Amino acid sequence: MPLTLTRTDLIRSANFINGAWTTTPAARLAVTDPATGATITEVPDSGVSEARAALAAAHAAFPAWRKLPAKQRAAIIKRWNDLVLAHQDDLGKLISREQGKPLAEGRGEVAYAASYIEWFGEEATRMNGEIIPAPVPGRRMFALKEPVGVVAAITPWNFPAAMIARKIAPALAAGCTVVCKPAEDTPLTSLALVLLAQEAGVPAGVLNIVTASREKTPEVVDVWLDDGRVRKITFTGSTPVGKYLARRSADTLKKLSLELGGNAPFIVFDDADVDAAVEGFMAAKFRNGGQTCVCPNRVFVQRGVFDAFAHKLAARVAALKVGPASDPASQIGPMINDRAVEKIERHVQDAIAKGAKVLTGGQRLPALGPTYYAPTVLTGADVTMACACEETFGPVAPLTVFDSEDEVVQAANDTPFGLAAYFYSQNARRIWRVADLLESGIVGINEGAISAEAAPFGGVKESGYGREGSTHGLDDYLHTKYLCQGQLD
Ligand code: SIN
Repeated sequence: MPLTLTRTDLIRSANFINGAWTTTPAARLAVTDPATGATITEVPDSGVSEARAALAAAHAAFPAWRKLPAKQRAAIIKRWNDLVLAHQDDLGKLISREQGKPLAEGRGEVAYAASYIEWFGEEATRMNGEIIPAPVPGRRMFALKEPVGVVAAITPWNFPAAMIARKIAPALAAGCTVVCKPAEDTPLTSLALVLLAQEAGVPAGVLNIVTASREKTPEVVDVWLDDGRVRKITFTGSTPVGKYLARRSADTLKKLSLELGGNAPFIVFDDADVDAAVEGFMAAKFRNGGQTCVCPNRVFVQRGVFDAFAHKLAARVAALKVGPASDPASQIGPMINDRAVEKIERHVQDAIAKGAKVLTGGQRLPALGPTYYAPTVLTGADVTMACACEETFGPVAPLTVFDSEDEVVQAANDTPFGLAAYFYSQNARRIWRVADLLESGIVGINEGAISAEAAPFGGVKESGYGREGSTHGLDDYLHTKYLCQGQLD
């Protein structure tokens, strides 16, 4: 089915550097529809010279952008938000086409992305400093907030609009300039958002974006990592890549925000409202077909409610409609690519080989195409299984029975990761006890939909550091300068 947009020029096939759309280099990267493998369009497969040009532009634009009064930066960001919302249908279609999520989720992601743009646009005017009472006479002491400088944003494919928005909007609000490398699978949404930012009045050089294939990405990113003019890296993606970025940026001591892999536990205690737990799980797990860093990856259910939870969940999951984004009835789309489906299949096969039982799903859906996998519920999962140790990043729910609170907290924390955790209980004492004990940056308590622009999103342990969203997400683009004025007596 052709991709029909009201504004066809939102489909960009060029880099945006120093305020101009440029088609160099000649090398091209095909952007494909994960549902069919068909090429949507081609974008530049950039390398060192594009990365350098983008950085030079961002560096040159920084002094004027940081000097612009916050109110004027806020007005530009607000116009960007208005344009994003005005093009919600087109952007939603673009997201769904290149990323595969159902159309309703694509449109929902546009609203989610805009919520960050709006929020940080408003915060731009509230980056207050402090006046500190001086400990000695004749002095005045101040703490000011300043933008860190040029930011390199490296974004993932699973939320091609929202992840760009929650990195770029705070950077612009803070007075930073940006070089961005969007995910190779989903560059089109990012390019469309940059076009709208240009139309909103973001000055030349302030926001630059270069596209590159998986193979060429290290070339682009290494230019930025090695250059002292880049003062901050913000990255969402895998833990191994996050570690590489941290190591490689150590020589120039850049500030880092790393939103990395998760292995979220979802715990249902005997004292939970089981129906609410099933609904919360559906929202948390099957958003974007399970391709979300905060998706529950391990499900622990206390023995007293195990059968009720497992059977209600299996019935809900079996009823999910799988299909292409182009079908408005679809609730689960294709996975992003072949490698993603292979990993899901490997995890399910490994679990079955080690004794897990399939309540529903457990297989590919070849009649729909090679990138589809049936939403799956397994019972009898345990720590020896790959699905307990690695992020499956797909529509698979492996259930494990447990008996005691101590046992489940220990099991939930038995992972190097700590991004999100969820639990359901109606017992107020238990709620505060377990929330304290979970080693995780985000905890959903009787709630599966935890993300919001006003909340700090980020992990602990090997899920990374830094926060996105909220005032914490703005602070990550600022440093604090202390001024001390003497001789005032
Ligand atoms: C992610 O998967 O990285 C982001 C999910 C969210 O913003 O809720």
